[in-house]
Amino acid sequence: KTHVKIYSTGKYIPPHRVSNHDLTSWMDTSDEWIVKRTGIQSRYLSRGDNTSNLCIKAAHDVLEDSHIDADEIGLIIVATMSPDGQSPSVASKVQSAIQAGQAMAFDMNAACSGFVYALSTAEKILRHAPYGYALVLGGEVMSKEIDWTDRKTAVLFGDGAAGVLIGKTDEADQFISEDLHANGDKGKALTSGNRQVDNPLVQSDKSISYLTMDGREIFNFVTRSIPDSIHKVLNESRTDIEDIDYFLLHQANARIIEIIAKKLKRPLETFPMNIQNYGNTSAASLPILLDELAKEKKVLNGKKQKIILSAFGGGLTWGTLLLEI
Ligand code: ACO
Repeated sequence: KTHVKIYSTGKYIPPHRVSNHDLTSWMDTSDEWIVKRTGIQSRYLSRGDNTSNLCIKAAHDVLEDSHIDADEIGLIIVATMSPDGQSPSVASKVQSAIQAGQAMAFDMNAACSGFVYALSTAEKILRHAPYGYALVLGGEVMSKEIDWTDRKTAVLFGDGAAGVLIGKTDEADQFISEDLHANGDKGKALTSGNRQVDNPLVQSDKSISYLTMDGREIFNFVTRSIPDSIHKVLNESRTDIEDIDYFLLHQANARIIEIIAKKLKRPLETFPMNIQNYGNTSAASLPILLDELAKEKKVLNGKKQKIILSAFGGGLTWGTLLLEI
């Protein structure tokens, strides 16, 4: 069996930081409300860079640490729900910018679960592929999907991009077990970018709709389904929960993470958080967190730690991976 491991990580965060206080001049909200309900203190917003620009910069950061030539990459997947447009894909733009002349490239949309979905998909393709490496990114400019007059959603999201290079290895396989799901019955709980049919036969509104979210519905759904999903992944691999070094959860709300930690009866220190700095960056949230921890040598430090990656979001979609990295 082919073994697969993570070779390097990287990220790019747009430089313009917007604090909760800054938001109060744009809408009726307060630092107190945002911190208490979500844990978010600031987020970074693009001043014009689109998703591909962020992803290209993140890709360069990933490759800088890898000692691998872009020609050795056979697959590029970008997880995003805020692509520059429908075509070309963000992944194709990355392929061109990094001159990965041998790579196939496509975008994947599973909203905030996108990175977990894309990493799982890339790992499977790679096992059967003639090439050695795959680049998996999550990148979002959520600020262009948001109705900036809707304080219920506008305060939550941020922009950014990050990712990993995975590849074949003679060392131990790092991908241990997984659990991925979707429940389209609850799709209306998060909608974004809807566009109606408009052609010579029917005339309709040409505009593209902003993001809407039923926060309560997602909150309740996630605090039930994510602990179940983590337990499934542990049971399948006969791993004790006490042996997990870190639980890396999608950074949507600090309260969600605290509730999940409590339900799993594990200390909050094993649930690293950066939502206070970045807000919810959707598909970019997990790879940003992973890269920060890697740069602090807390993960990917040769210690063979057991790490849970778990994400949830629009679709609804959710998924958990157990890695030994
Ligand atoms: N500032 C001040 N007041 C606000 C704000 C704000 N920014 N937003 C809402 N309020 C008010 C509301 O108007 C409401 O007032 P009312 O009671 O007078 O009507 C009150 O605060 C409570 O609002 P709720 O929406 O009920 O607040 P809740 O406690 O549910 O928190 C939140 C909302 C933070 C969105 C929470 O539900 C949540 O985090 N849900 C999960 C979201 C999530 O995980 N999404 C992940 C997927 S994202 C993706 O896939 C892209």
